[in-house]
Amino acid sequence: MNEGGAAIRNKWDRIYRETGDAIPEPAPVLADNAHLLPAAGIALDFACGLGGNALFLAQQGLDTHAWDISPEAIRRLNAYARRLGVALRSEIRDVMECPPVEESFDVIVVSRFLERSLAPAISAALKPGGLLFYQTYTREKVAEVGPTNPAFLLDTNELLRLFSSLRLVFYREEGQIGDPARGARNQAFFVGRKT
Ligand SMILES: C[S@@+](CC[C@H](N)C(=O)[O-])C[C@H]1O[C@@H](n2cnc3c(N)ncnc32)[C@H](O)[C@@H]1O
Repeated sequence: MNEGGAAIRNKWDRIYRETGDAIPEPAPVLADNAHLLPAAGIALDFACGLGGNALFLAQQGLDTHAWDISPEAIRRLNAYARRLGVALRSEIRDVMECPPVEESFDVIVVSRFLERSLAPAISAALKPGGLLFYQTYTREKVAEVGPTNPAFLLDTNELLRLFSSLRLVFYREEGQIGDPARGARNQAFFVGRKT
């Protein structure tokens, strides 16, 4: 792992050591669109953190993989999986150095992680008919949440551009339109299918 990867790993290890012990929830883009999931297949929670998406995918009966650079995140995820009695394959993995191989997953979920250079590898890693569920923070926000560095925030409609090779299934991005106290704000939500 290079110096940048080690710094990221240490930062997230510190954060996860200080995070409470509640079992993490799946991201809304997955929970709200769970009816789209296949009955069986191989799923990946990409940069999974504590693995709310992975636990949910495994509970839906999918053969679930979960990758994160933080050993502390993976340790905690394994403990949650044991507590819930679900089986999943977790891995300490730097996705920049080891992106997924082509056509290897039926479902990929990415939440609150943005590394634009990986978008082609993520699309390529879907099997034909595979689904990508993606949500992360936007520059246009109504609250001070998510990263402060604008490089880690989505531009307007950016997920549509990054994953334009996929068939659009679902998209939501509300920006600052209308009543900011209502709706799904601060993030963009995308589901796409590889045809
Ligand atoms: C904001 S957290 C999101 C975690 C989880 N997806 C969620 O929605 O709760 C970002 C995650 O990306 C992971 N991460 C950052 N760079 C990574 C890399 N190069 N390879 C793998 N994971 C990485 C961090 O360890 C952290 O768990």
